[in-house]
Amino acid sequence: MAEEFDVIVIGAGPGGYVAAIRAAQNGLKVACVESRETLGGTCLNVGCIPSKALLHASELYAHAADGSLAKFGVETAGVKLNLNAMLDEKLAAVKGLTDGIAFLFKKNKVTWLKGRARFTGKSSIDVGGTAYTAKSIVIATGSSVTPLPGVEIDQKVVVDSTGALSLPKVPKHLVVIGGGVIGLELGSVWMRLGAKVTVVEYLDQILPGMDGDVRKDMARLLKKQGMEFRTSTKVTGVKVAKGAAAVTVEPAAGGTAETLEADAVLVSIGRRPNTEGLDLEKAGVALNARGQIEVGHKFETAVDGIYAIGDVTPGPMLAHKAEDEGVAVADFLAGRVGYVNHDVIPAVVYTMPEAASVGKTEDELKAAGIAVKVGKFPFAGNSRAKTNRDTDGFVKVIADAATDRVLGVHIVGSLAGTMIAQAAQAMEFGASSEDIALTCHAHPTHSEALKEAAMAVEGKAIHV
Ligand code: FAD
Ligand code: NAI
Repeated sequence: MAEEFDVIVIGAGPGGYVAAIRAAQNGLKVACVESRETLGGTCLNVGCIPSKALLHASELYAHAADGSLAKFGVETAGVKLNLNAMLDEKLAAVKGLTDGIAFLFKKNKVTWLKGRARFTGKSSIDVGGTAYTAKSIVIATGSSVTPLPGVEIDQKVVVDSTGALSLPKVPKHLVVIGGGVIGLELGSVWMRLGAKVTVVEYLDQILPGMDGDVRKDMARLLKKQGMEFRTSTKVTGVKVAKGAAAVTVEPAAGGTAETLEADAVLVSIGRRPNTEGLDLEKAGVALNARGQIEVGHKFETAVDGIYAIGDVTPGPMLAHKAEDEGVAVADFLAGRVGYVNHDVIPAVVYTMPEAASVGKTEDELKAAGIAVKVGKFPFAGNSRAKTNRDTDGFVKVIADAATDRVLGVHIVGSLAGTMIAQAAQAMEFGASSEDIALTCHAHPTHSEALKEAAMAVEGKAIHV
């Protein structure tokens, strides 16, 4: 007889492990299947956490090495990079957190089924030759790197994000294919450590999907730091020989080809849902044209008893979106009401400065025919940012012209990722720009720039 659970979650990323823990907290008998050696999925093992560890460490190095601390009376000389120590510290961060999830599984009595799951029916799966059944099955299998046809990832010279988190030495020239989140974050890491970085982007601007002002300012600021951009450009081939790559590029619209010599190439053109090998057809679960599993508002698929969350479903591929869906689906499974507001999901690019966004962009609102008022405030007018010599960027608040309700907030700034939480909360509570403008913000903080941007919606910011 197959062991039976109330809930089996497939995948232990931020979506799956959170769903499993919450379902167990709700009193259900839960198993979570994970094929990796460690829990935490892409995010903890080869995504959010190791990339942020390297972003933090490389920023410390850059500050120490480029002499910028001298202005604050901190003189540094003979600064040396110990890349192995930096990579070890990253691994320690990953281990601490992935072990932490294993501890939480034990604490909450979630059974970890080690191995790959595949469906054998609507309510049954196989893991390494053993059968299990469940009243409900949650698919949280995440996503993996989209390959670029004709470009082979060898994880030595041509790497994906996983390879780029562990390069054994700093490349002289790193060519990044794709000017999205991964390209800019990991490009920043290696640029700070001394690499020349050239980003090849198919579209005419980097960071598709973000607000136009953010895209422009981020390109300007990263260029100022030394990152080179080849926009409206496509890669037509990569040839590797003797540890080096020849990257052939040409204008996206067609034209004369050119070759970029590089000793490392990062392919970061997006991610695609993981559904291969799940034998979804045995359960009757279908995929949409983009290979995703469509779900309803309770995260239910078209098949009774089967649910899906996180990167394998439509929507932004973000850890916090997956986590919130994990909590919500587990609450629905326990007969409670789960809630995720997909209109208010913040997104952050952890470069320096950071770029953060929540709600609609100005272009999206214009295209929808919604009249808006926009308030913008530069960090150059913020006393704390000035004191810290940290004045790059701005806050932009977009409010409905008729009701003043905040419809979007977009920030470029050193603390943008932290500040966006306040904007998300304001939007979740249905705030107007006046609500933010009338909220007392501590002085001197970067957050005052959000208040001033809200005041600027009525043209009445003080410090500009
Ligand atoms: P995943 O985290 O992908 O987890 C799915 C798990 O399922 C995997 O561990 C996989 O091994 C397992 N699995 C798949 N199929 C099976 C099967 N058949 N049987 C058993 N197990 C299976 N997001 C952010 O919000 N902030 C960031 O800063 C951020 N940084 C990132 C940096 C990088 C370099 C990358 C690549 C991604 C980053 N992301 C970030 C995105 C984030 O990692 C994902 O959105 C998030 O991990 C999605 O969670 P998930 O639970 O849906 O899937
Ligand atoms: P992305 O979708 O952010 O960016 C891919 C970029 O590649 C786009 O600008 C696209 O126009 C470009 N592109 C596509 N095909 C191309 C081609 N053939 N040649 C040149 N450019 C091409 O994808 P990315 O950066 O790979 O990240 C994947 C996902 O991981 C993101 O969607 C994001 O959700 C998640 N992520 C989130 C992070 C965060 O929250 N800070 C950090 C890293 C990843």
